[in-house]
Amino acid sequence: MHQAINACLAPLYSVEGMHVITVEGVGNCRRGLHPVQESLACSHGSQCGFCTPGFIMSIYALLRSSQEPPTLEQIEESLAGNLCRCTGYRPIVDAFRVFAKTNDSLYVNGALEGHSGQFICPSTGKPCSCGLKPGNEDEKLKTDRCSVDDYSPVSYSDTDGTIFTNKELIFPPELLLRKLTYLCLTGLNGLNWYRPLKLQHVLDLKARHPDAKLVVGNTEVGIEMRLKRMEYRALIYIAHIPELNQLSLNDEGMEIGAAVKLSELMKVLQTVSGKRPLYETSSCRALIEQIKWFAGTQIRNAASIGGNICTASPISDLNPLWMAAGAKFCIIDGKGNIRTCLAEKFFLGYRKVDMASSEILHSVFLPWNKQYEFVKEFKQAHRRDDDIAIVNAGMRVLFEQRDTKWVISDASIVYGGVAPVPLFAYKTKLFLIGKTWSKELMQDALEVLQEDIVLKENAPGGMVEFRKSLTLSFFFKFFLWVCHHIDGQTSCPSGIPSSHLSAIQPFHRTSVTGSQDFDITKHGTAVGSPEVHLSSKLQVSGEAEYTDDTPVPPNSLYAALVLSKKPHARILSIDDSGAKSSPGFAGIFFAKDIPGNNNIGPVIADEELFASEFVTCVGQVIGVVVADTHENAKNAARRVHIEYDELPAILSMKDAIHCNSFHPNTEKCLRKGDVDLCFQSDQCDKIMEGEVQVGGQEHFYLEPNSSLVWTVDNGNEVHMVSSTQAPQKHQKYVSHVLGLPMSKVVCKTKRIGGGFGGKETRSAFLAASAAIASYLLNRPVKLTLDRDIDMMITGQRHSFLGKYKVGFTNNGKVLALDLEIYNNGGNSLDLSLAILERAMFHSDNVYEIPNVRINGRVCYTNFPSNTAFRGFGGPQGMLITENWVQRIAMELKKSPEEIREINFQREGSVLHYGQKIEHFTLDRIWNELKTSCDLYNARKEVDQFNSNNRWKKRGIALIPTKFGISFTTKFMNQAGALVQVYTDGTVLVTHGGVEMGQGLHTKVAQIAASSFNIPLSSVFISETSTDKVPNATPTAASASSDMYGAAVLDACEQINVRMKPIASTRNYSSFAELANACYMERIDLSAHGFFITPDIGFDWKTGQGIPFRYFTYGAAFAEVEIDTLTGDFHTTKADVTLDLGFSLNPAIDVGQIEGAFIQGLGWAALEELKWGDPAHRWIPAGFLYTCGPGNYKIPSVNDVPLKFNISLLKGAPNAKAIHSSKAVGEPPFFLASAVLFAIKDAIVSARAEVGCSDWFPLDNPATPERIRMACPDEFTKAFVDSDFRPKLSI
Ligand SMILES: Cc1cc2nc3c(=O)[nH]c(=O)nc-3n(C[C@H](O)[C@H](O)[C@H](O)COP(=O)(O)OP(=O)(O)OC[C@H]3O[C@@H](n4cnc5c(N)ncnc54)[C@H](O)[C@@H]3O)c2cc1C
Ligand code: FES
Repeated sequence: MHQAINACLAPLYSVEGMHVITVEGVGNCRRGLHPVQESLACSHGSQCGFCTPGFIMSIYALLRSSQEPPTLEQIEESLAGNLCRCTGYRPIVDAFRVFAKTNDSLYVNGALEGHSGQFICPSTGKPCSCGLKPGNEDEKLKTDRCSVDDYSPVSYSDTDGTIFTNKELIFPPELLLRKLTYLCLTGLNGLNWYRPLKLQHVLDLKARHPDAKLVVGNTEVGIEMRLKRMEYRALIYIAHIPELNQLSLNDEGMEIGAAVKLSELMKVLQTVSGKRPLYETSSCRALIEQIKWFAGTQIRNAASIGGNICTASPISDLNPLWMAAGAKFCIIDGKGNIRTCLAEKFFLGYRKVDMASSEILHSVFLPWNKQYEFVKEFKQAHRRDDDIAIVNAGMRVLFEQRDTKWVISDASIVYGGVAPVPLFAYKTKLFLIGKTWSKELMQDALEVLQEDIVLKENAPGGMVEFRKSLTLSFFFKFFLWVCHHIDGQTSCPSGIPSSHLSAIQPFHRTSVTGSQDFDITKHGTAVGSPEVHLSSKLQVSGEAEYTDDTPVPPNSLYAALVLSKKPHARILSIDDSGAKSSPGFAGIFFAKDIPGNNNIGPVIADEELFASEFVTCVGQVIGVVVADTHENAKNAARRVHIEYDELPAILSMKDAIHCNSFHPNTEKCLRKGDVDLCFQSDQCDKIMEGEVQVGGQEHFYLEPNSSLVWTVDNGNEVHMVSSTQAPQKHQKYVSHVLGLPMSKVVCKTKRIGGGFGGKETRSAFLAASAAIASYLLNRPVKLTLDRDIDMMITGQRHSFLGKYKVGFTNNGKVLALDLEIYNNGGNSLDLSLAILERAMFHSDNVYEIPNVRINGRVCYTNFPSNTAFRGFGGPQGMLITENWVQRIAMELKKSPEEIREINFQREGSVLHYGQKIEHFTLDRIWNELKTSCDLYNARKEVDQFNSNNRWKKRGIALIPTKFGISFTTKFMNQAGALVQVYTDGTVLVTHGGVEMGQGLHTKVAQIAASSFNIPLSSVFISETSTDKVPNATPTAASASSDMYGAAVLDACEQINVRMKPIASTRNYSSFAELANACYMERIDLSAHGFFITPDIGFDWKTGQGIPFRYFTYGAAFAEVEIDTLTGDFHTTKADVTLDLGFSLNPAIDVGQIEGAFIQGLGWAALEELKWGDPAHRWIPAGFLYTCGPGNYKIPSVNDVPLKFNISLLKGAPNAKAIHSSKAVGEPPFFLASAVLFAIKDAIVSARAEVGCSDWFPLDNPATPERIRMACPDEFTKAFVDSDFRPKLSI
């Protein structure tokens, strides 16, 4: 049996004696890819590739361990613990869908073959890589299938053409014969690892080491040691103790060994539930449901029930259920005596249990349920998949029938997440016993429940009102659920309307389906063709190298940063003696040591590389420590002691505005018409004022920032490899802080594991920090940030605040907009002004407004500097707009779509900054989408659903967008490239852009291939390097394919011109022959290409100009369903249409749209940054609480819309960019706001149920907390008014 586990949590010695397969072993480009690798690569399921090996291993483990082909559901479930930030997941699911058993007849030889002999995938109906490569008929007969029972061989070695299955890994026979042995190993810092094989031995060890930690999955201990920096001396690995792994059934119940893994328990519970009488297994079924949403597969494969119980987390998903189900814990002491303790009595305090240090948990006894006993689980988390609960619960009630009444003879109501221990609601239990199960009882019980649950206003974790509301909502759901199941009846007891059953309909997610609709307009050999990402095969096999994979030169050191712990303070003293005496220490450097200039900044130099006197945010860099290992460097950095004199800190935009705290010279204004006059005249029937808060977002690129820096010629030159979107900025910063000329500093970037704007400017100071140490010690230095540090110090998408005044007519025509717009710049300007400006440009979204005044300012706050993020302020500006548009619709009782349409811009419209709209395609997009999503009927169906369901509501929205393409700073719109043709006819292209998953290199290579009329495989792009293409603009603003594509084309055309005279002399049989002939004639086959975006320019003095070369238009329709009692939601449908002209590569473009949409969905509805600010006083001031995947939740595979359709507008060439294409990276991001507005639409229906018809704010992200608290009902009214607005860090 093979299982997927998390490499970062599994201690190496826990797999001693096991067969460990990593992605490298599954298949590779030399030996041949495994079908799962091949399929993912060819389905466009790998963009930056950083997440890809994880997905490969999850699906490989599933296929390898499945007795029969898995179902689609199992496949998606196995991916729930993997995150991808680029793809939007759909292509990943599609890639693996082919391994699911659907209909066997579809998989037989020749059943599905396209005209060109391509294999057509039975699942997707498209040509697919899981079929056989044409041309090998013998093998084809054997292998033209892609179901799991015969899914191979479908893949061949690129080198020798051999078939993959020849090399499928076998289970090593020597491991079959090998006997496990006792292990005692000593590691770093005196840590001992014991692997006993007998229970008595465990007890003896525990007696010898009372403080030892027992380990099974290490999913808790591992987190404690790695992230909470807890140090343990002895770890006792108990996974192989037979008694602790037993699972036995008797007449009373089942006994589950403490080391039993959750996935194992799940299987047994499923089997038991199918075999025993239904009523006996109510607890089992509740446990099954709870385990389904417990972490991801990888964690469930490793984590044990004992580990979960003994960790005693107040938010454990299982402990409330054990308690409610009346489970008993069997505890064994050093002498082998076993005592039992009711689960209900086991938890004594915060992470404190009723167990002596000499005792361990032996097993759990779960009793079968009695007749008329009902047990139910509840859990609400931020994200449904792989997330810890905000509140969870286990509830049980036992009835006896007296006359015709059901009387409660016992009950347990237990909550997690509302107290330091799982909270047993004793008062409620006592109240319930002896009463009849009725609506009146439920209402009275809710009152008692409120006495049981006391959550203080400033309770850690916040969300107090939400958590309290959830406790009542859960009880109400339990009440209805029991009503529904009582006496085995499926009909509802009288008095409960059938629409209320919506409260208890279980969530069932169907598999993701979708379509990708586009035309292919080919230009030459490659342009326009849906080619796969050029690195995809290297990525699926784990062979693609990222910065941190670069082999370090001998004598290398590792760096860690010394960071500020105060948001604003004067540094009084720095004591680095602790660091200097820590193991492996090699050097420490502060501001005083900087050989060049300490003042840095991408636009103005308003930052210090190392803080010299003042710190202005938590996480500001004060110095750098280097040591022989990464761990030692981090340890040394922690041992630097800094004394501060704390100063007042500005910790929100509202504080900044109140204190007049703005970055200097950032006041900007755009005007059109006369706003004041319009408001004063009687043209406007209505004038509305309001405020929109727009939440920030973490980039969460999967590859954290990393730089490897080394000196050449004893420090005469400095070279580096960096994970950055802007190698030139790294070169510039390093030269600046070292005082070296830029010509002596080289930065190279092969590829990066996602950037999204986060590695444009906020990674350069990291490279510069490493360079200081490298230069001063004359040794190579690597700095790779841990995830939490990366999130804490490198800035995020700006939060925004918009204060609007809008005047409009009774039919919805907007006449005037007066907008004040602010963004949270943080403690340095960075790119905040350009981001504010773009937000101001996009504050009309797609609407014609005759009178506009927009004033913008960048707030100075004591947070790490915020920075570029996909959309660069555009989405924030447009979100503010769509908020007031939606409000006008509510005010006028019209549909938002009607208000949108009546205000649309059109061909020739002049925007509020003077640019004229040309080649307007939004009207076509809008009408096509409106038809394809059948808006009219969708609305009718939603209304129908909502009138039939009290506690579940659906909502829809159709949102347009227009995104300006170009850097709004004119000089940045330039690009260079170097093209070299070799005598074998292959071409090496180097350009200034960075490949970060967006497929830039693939598109650019297609352009070169078409230009030379050669196959794409003849073109190669190795890396981006400042010594090949100088002064490159960062890869950003969606414009890189336009600009670098054009620069490469320029170079190719120069070479073509030089080759032409030779080519015209005779017919060359190949490009190689021609290239060689040119060489023999001494023709220069290398050219530098250059491109500047023409006809753009903007003057802020006049507020007029043409900032954008053109616009990318699009629209999206979304439908969602919310649970008004818990705030849970899912997107049932999303249709996106975008105008991308003649796409350079429609497959890559579809991938960009899907990825942007899902990232946008995170911003709109999932991802919440919580800072230590006035809204979250339980977090230390200035600290980021949500600084890791544990509590910052990006979308996972289960957040993808159930139906996800993407269309590219057809027949709309764009005259203003290369090969008639359009830019794609940022424009689709905002379209995910359709999900936010669909949620709002659903909430409108929920509020109507209680008579609230007024407009209400809904901030992004629309998390379960915001959704739930916007749906006032009898359960929330105990705690808040209907206008309650949950807190948001802005
Ligand atoms: C990514 C992730 C997601 C998670 N999601 C969830 C979730 O959704 N819901 C949830 O409830 N939890 C969740 N957790 C926490 C998880 O439940 C626990 O980490 C896990 O159940 C612990 O089991 P383990 O075998 O890995 O424990 P280990 O880390 O091996 O041990 C944990 C603790 O239990 C003690 N212990 C273990 N066995 C015994 C025993 N027999 N007797 C006495 N003490 C013992 C150890 O000494 C140690 O202190 C998540 C954790 C991670 C990392
Ligand atoms: S491809 Fe998944 S994170 Fe980049």
